[in-house]
Amino acid sequence: MKPILILNGPNLNLLGLRQPEIYGHETLADVEARCAALALELGHRIEFRQSNHEGEIVTMIQAARGTAAAIIINPAAYTHTSVAILDALSAFEGPVIEVHISNIHKRESFRHHSYVSLRAEGVIAGCGTEGYLLALRRITSLLA
Ligand code: DQA
Repeated sequence: MKPILILNGPNLNLLGLRQPEIYGHETLADVEARCAALALELGHRIEFRQSNHEGEIVTMIQAARGTAAAIIINPAAYTHTSVAILDALSAFEGPVIEVHISNIHKRESFRHHSYVSLRAEGVIAGCGTEGYLLALRRITSLLA
């Protein structure tokens, strides 16, 4: 079985340090470890990546064509701006789940719109970092 790619956008490398009142105290490495452990339980393997660069994220999504079973993506700020990430995801053949740690609908109005949601099979927002684990469970059912 191909791995599930978990992609994280800009500033998520600062998870645990950045606005902990919104994003919590866990680091991205903590999230990766929890995802890897759950994936193992579910009979999957993950590749976990982060980038602050839009083009790099596009390239990683392109590379997932034919090599990843599914994508879980927290595009961070690019959620609200990036047609390029939407287009790259649209060229990917497997299921896509969009994750946001915070509830983007409870925040500033510019966060209410997501380009990525036009492609995602499902969206999880406001469940904290547990959203990644919920996304993994959903992807497992979609791939079954
Ligand atoms: C985020 C929400 C985005 O609006 C924000 O730009 C982020 C993180 C989240 O996980 O809640 O960087 O995607």
